[in-house]
Amino acid sequence: MNLKKGLFITFEGIDGSGKSTQSQLLAKSLESIGQSVILTREPGGSEGAEIIRSLLVSGETDRWSPETEILLFTAARRDHLEKTIQPALDKNQIVICDRFVDSTRVYQGVARADLGKTVDELHSIIIKKEPDITFIINTDPEKSLLRGLARSSGEDRFEDFGLDFQKKLKDGFVKLSQTAKTRCHLIDGMRSKEDIAEDIFVIVRDYVQ
Ligand code: TMP
Repeated sequence: MNLKKGLFITFEGIDGSGKSTQSQLLAKSLESIGQSVILTREPGGSEGAEIIRSLLVSGETDRWSPETEILLFTAARRDHLEKTIQPALDKNQIVICDRFVDSTRVYQGVARADLGKTVDELHSIIIKKEPDITFIINTDPEKSLLRGLARSSGEDRFEDFGLDFQKKLKDGFVKLSQTAKTRCHLIDGMRSKEDIAEDIFVIVRDYVQ
């Protein structure tokens, strides 16, 4: 079953916050009620953006400056938007995206450097798209960092910035949820994954009925 109009849902949070699990659980719940869902992620989600992803998530922390990161994430996002997100929305599908521009706003715009204005300006020129609903999974930085590092994914470049960096990210995401109140839902991520998923599904159900 397709909606009359596409729906763009994003998940955000610090590293190891459980947002990928929640993206998958929401996709399953929506499919179980007959919705057509595309589950995707950033950086990545299209062939070109996955290539850019590998440049960003591995290697030494000083491999890229915050400014270069903004350009690379935005380039990946533009390709992802052109090839994956917009075509699905045009077909009235539900797009669930694990991270989007809010990650750039917080990681590059707040935690890596004070570059919020640059992120927003570039976004308004190159991307020009905001999600309809954003879930920010709010967790404890210490526990989440341990969880993220325990995965040994080989994609730890941002985890390698350390605990203070993750604390700045947490504060940045909480602040963002207060400035973009109509679309952002701050979700207590320190509960069972089933309880979190239920809260999220209740919110989304209102949009698809
Ligand atoms: P992931 O581990 O959630 O797939 O994301 C990869 C890393 O990239 C994660 O540490 C967050 C970081 N990131 C940014 O710094 N800025 C961005 O705009 C995005 C999308 C991700």
